[in-house]
Order: sequence, then C-alpha cells, then structure tokens
Amino acid sequence: MRVLGIESSCDETAVAIVSEKRERIVELVLSQLKEHRPFGGVVPEIAARSHLTQLDRMIGQALEQSGIAARDIDAIAATAGPGLIGSVLVGVTMGKAMALALDRPFLAINHLEGHALSARLDPGVEFPFLLLLVSGGHCQLLRVEGVGRYRRLGTTVDDAAGEAFDKGAKLLGLGYPGGPAIEQAARRATEAGLDPKRYGLPRPMLGRPGCDFSFSGLKTALRQRAEELAVGGRLPERERDGLALALQEAIAAVLADRTANALDICSAIGGGLTALVVAGGVAANGRIRQALDRVARAKGLTLVAPPLALCTDNAAMIAWAGIERLQGGPALAQGDGLDFAARPRWPLDPSAPRAAGAGVKA
Ligand code: KG4
Ligand code: ZN
Repeated sequence: MRVLGIESSCDETAVAIVSEKRERIVELVLSQLKEHRPFGGVVPEIAARSHLTQLDRMIGQALEQSGIAARDIDAIAATAGPGLIGSVLVGVTMGKAMALALDRPFLAINHLEGHALSARLDPGVEFPFLLLLVSGGHCQLLRVEGVGRYRRLGTTVDDAAGEAFDKGAKLLGLGYPGGPAIEQAARRATEAGLDPKRYGLPRPMLGRPGCDFSFSGLKTALRQRAEELAVGGRLPERERDGLALALQEAIAAVLADRTANALDICSAIGGGLTALVVAGGVAANGRIRQALDRVARAKGLTLVAPPLALCTDNAAMIAWAGIERLQGGPALAQGDGLDFAARPRWPLDPSAPRAAGAGVKA
C-alpha cells in the first residue's frame, strides 16, 4: 500500500509517498522561511499563496522522483487542520482533486495526529505512549492509546513552547526562527561560564498540579530583564546570550516538570506506557531532550524522538497517519467524503475543553 501525503497547514509545503512497510519512498519539504523572515513571523496570506504556487509542481516531482505512476497510489492523505485556514484549504483542495481524478480514497488528516503517530513510522514505537508535542503552534501532552484514541492531559493556556522561543529571540534581537538562535546563544553563554539563575526568570506552572503550560509570563519577565540590563538602550551581547540561556533553562524546566506530572497521571490511569515520545520542532533542542531524558529515566522509561525530519512539519507523517487509518479496521479505514470541511481548530481529544472551530468547505 502506498499513500501520498500532503502537508500545508503552516509555512512548510510538503509532499511524501510512504508505504505500509514504513518505507519513506519520497519526502519533499519546502520551507517558506525566507518569504516570512522580513516580517519576523508567518504571514498567513503569503503562506497560502506560496503553497498554491508550489504544491502541484511538488506532487509532480514526488511522482517523478519515486518512479511511481499516479494510478499506483492507493490513497491521498492531506492535512485538513488545525492550521492557517487558507493554507490548509490549498492542501485539502489539491488532495480532493487528486482523489477524485484517480478514483482513490481521500483521507482528511488531523495535523496533530500526524505528529502523534510519527514515532510509529520511525522508530516504530508501540501503543500506548506519552507524547509531548512541542512546536511553534502546539504545546500538548497526549496519551496516545491507539489510532484515533488520544487523551489530552495538558495543553498551553497561552503561547506554545516554540512561540516562547520565537518571541524571546525576537525580543533579544536574535532573529527568526528563534529556537535555533536561542540554542546557539545559550551555548555561547554556557561556554562563557554565565549562570542562568542570575537572571531570575520565572518558571510558570512549575510545581503546580496538572500538566498545563503557560509561557506568556516568561516573555514579559524576559522583556523586563532585557530593559534593565540594557546600556544606553542596547543590550550587551554577553547579557543577551545569558538571557537566552536563562530562557532555555526555564522552558526546559517547565516542560520537564509538566511531563513528569503527566507520567504520574498515566501511572494512575494504569495500562503502562511503552515510551515517552517528544515531537515537534522544539524537540530539536539538545537541552530540552536532556531534561526530558532525565524525567523518562526517573520513571523507568526511555525518551524517544523521531528523526528531526519527522519532528518538524512534514508530509511523511501525514501519509503514515493515512496508512495507520487504512489499516485500523473498517470503522477507521473508510475515506472521508469530498465535502470534508477544512478546520482551523481541531483538537485531537474531543472530550478536551475548547471544541473544534467551524470547518471551511473546499
Ligand atoms: O514543528 P515545527 O517545525 O513547526 C510548527 O510550528 O508546527 O516547529 C517550529 C518551532 C519554531 O517555534 C522553532 O523556533 C522551534 O520549533 N525550534 C526550536 C529549535 N528548532 C526549532 N526550538 C528550540 N530549539 C531548537 N533548536
Ligand atoms: Zn506541526
């Protein structure tokens, strides 16, 4: 079985073909970073137009590169939300058009489900596992119990962890995207022997019951410290790097604390866990991986992170989620109707607070 996946929910245009044997036959990702960089963040209108310009060419390239004829594709899976609605609509419309033309099932995939199942594609983790999903748009702890069975244990009440990195970097004048820039600056500060505690940044939610996150207070405190440390209106490079280190330490500590609580909640639920999985762009951060590894070991588990190409936004995880659904028995395997509406919001756990937003038909 071979499924073609399409991802266009944010600022990566991606196409992939994946087999049920976990072969990633072709994986194409085009980042729009350069187009958004001048604005210091993703501009929805630019994102949607760029997806529209690139997607059909990339689908052609994926087929050509893999040597697979379009008629040999068994299903089309496209991200149908959550995400920037104009961008999601581009991928959904393309997926539906292909499914219609080829007379194959169309699978509307929840982007979060793609992330949730990516560790099953590589390295092949078994259910149930705890997932910490940390990206620019999402910060959630999910107990992944099976295909279509997700229990949300915690989420952010304001910013996502990646957003905290991005906003922090912007504030410190470190550019966009912020995560890698903060990590680099933090490394310089460590090498220079700076003590992150010196900056007294808060660690929101740390020590509180439950597994929710909050990062907006951290951003405010960072701004205040940066203003206090500025000399003649300019933040010295050494202090800037020190603040980056303090920010990274605070985020790592909060993520580790909330994840430890989620593991305790999972123990109370029973049924065991096979692993702690971290996914999303923030999973690239070495310090955060180290902190999570420590938490997992303390609970007798291993920390598993899919390869980076599967952690950040990609289409292989969308194709794979489609394959998992097709293999999941008749109730899951039936394709979605061509009237499936793209969704700007779409929580994975329907019982979680904050229900799905109204869909937009493509
Ligand atoms: O999953 P992703 O590629 O896109 C979505 O947001 O869905 O995640 C991007 C996020 C950005 O906020 C970026 O700053 C963050 O991941 N990120 C990092 C690192 N690399 C990327 N955050 C911390 N450390 C990094 N090394
Ligand atoms: Zn994502």
